[in-house]
Amino acid sequence: MIGRPRVHHALTDSTNERAKELAASGAVNGTLVTADEQSAGRGRQGREWVAPARSAVLMSVLLREFDALLPLRAAVAAAETCGSEEIKWPNDVWLGGRKVAGILVEGRPAEGWAVLGIGVNVVAVEFPAGLDAVALDDGRSVDAVLQALLVSLDRWLGADDVLRAWRERDALKGRGVSWGEGSGTAAGIDDSGALLVDTASGRTALQAGEVHLTL
Ligand code: BTN
Repeated sequence: MIGRPRVHHALTDSTNERAKELAASGAVNGTLVTADEQSAGRGRQGREWVAPARSAVLMSVLLREFDALLPLRAAVAAAETCGSEEIKWPNDVWLGGRKVAGILVEGRPAEGWAVLGIGVNVVAVEFPAGLDAVALDDGRSVDAVLQALLVSLDRWLGADDVLRAWRERDALKGRGVSWGEGSGTAAGIDDSGALLVDTASGRTALQAGEVHLTL
């Protein structure tokens, strides 16, 4: 069961950091760390994740059983929780073309653990200028969204049909994308979760973590 035991912090630097400490000290699979506020919340590719206190789900769960599709599984669970039909590869969840939830997976697969960090904007706030973000603002409390997310994670972390569910929400398919070395048209994902892109020189597969994608 994902979410037990649960450690809650009023303020911490990053729930992913706390969960990694717990991983090193032998905490059990499913241990959950939450916070009202983070002073150094982190996003993918060195970005920061900023949310005013009690405006967002800020959670990290320690997993000792997972597979290579974990980032996509988490995206489907977060999208389901948010009522979103839009996932931007690999795991940004959008509502109406703006980001409502983000996912940061860190860990040591060789040591048999991963920390799955998820942030969901719940309460409407003034987002920093230039940040294309949106909040759920659907009347649910932060804790209600967290509980729904845990139920979805329980389902999708072990589901056989996660690639189908992810593909149904593929927000990039058919859109132009570019990255450091190239550009092309997004053409879905392969069964490993790599992004397929049709370029002038043929089809290529991009691995998450290796490329920074621009739309
Ligand atoms: C991204 O969109 O780039 C990923 C954002 C992940 C944010 C969450 S909030 C809870 C957990 N703790 C962190 O420091 N980051 C993740």
